Amino acid sequence: MHIEPAGEHIGAIVTGVDVARLSERDWQALYSAWLDHSVLIVRDQELDIASFLDYGRRFGRVKPHLVRRARHPDHPDLTVMGLGTRKQDGSVNKSIYNRGQGWHTDGPWDHEVCKATQLYGLEIPSVGGDTLFANMYAAYAALPDDLKRRIAGLDAHYVYGGRNRTGVDLLEPEDQDRPPTRYPLVRTHPETGRTSLYFNPFHILRIADVDDAESDAIIEELTAQMIVPGADYRHQWRPGDLVTWDNRCTLHAAAGGYPIEERRIHWRCTIMQ
Ligand code: SIN
Repeated sequence: MHIEPAGEHIGAIVTGVDVARLSERDWQALYSAWLDHSVLIVRDQELDIASFLDYGRRFGRVKPHLVRRARHPDHPDLTVMGLGTRKQDGSVNKSIYNRGQGWHTDGPWDHEVCKATQLYGLEIPSVGGDTLFANMYAAYAALPDDLKRRIAGLDAHYVYGGRNRTGVDLLEPEDQDRPPTRYPLVRTHPETGRTSLYFNPFHILRIADVDDAESDAIIEELTAQMIVPGADYRHQWRPGDLVTWDNRCTLHAAAGGYPIEERRIHWRCTIMQ
């Protein structure tokens, strides 16, 4: 097994291993690299659904995604992503085509922290369709001191789809009005002990306990400063790539930009603490 950095400050690429047949020693090395690099890309995997989910369960408890219609009919813990890029009227369904969301971390609308997300590339378009990742330890470290002081001790409220309710149409009616969650903007990572910005410009509803103007101003400033040049990584997918990221200290975004006629299909699972 070989592990090398993907970006300068985020991501690691792993080759020469089959995750369906991992020794305990290799698993410990992978998990340690994951904590150090926040995004782990294991190349050249040939997985069936059971081995994909078993690998996810090594990281934590796997939980079905809120978007019920994309769950695999026989394996609800597994979401199949990328089917239905066009709506019935022929227009592009952006929530599916480029996952519609810009920079985000997964699951802040859930009342328990989403530890990790895992994607496995099945069908990859000939061009585009990359995934971008950004390091939120670096984002916090790079914030100006006055902004760090302003957000110290503040929480944010989140709902699925954020203030614009984008993508809520993917949810079943009974899931569309869940109460907002509340999380600190600055968190200590429970495993690395490092300080990270925990901010999701897409799913955010507002900053708690400040007036509207201050809430808007903080959201705007954090959005402008959260991607630190050099602390990001652009993943160009190959079929067989297995990518697991730590939602507690990263943001990610689907870059889109692939031909709509081509398929971009991933298996996905959501991993909790
Ligand atoms: C996501 O945005 O949640 C998935 C990332 C991707 O499809 O590239």
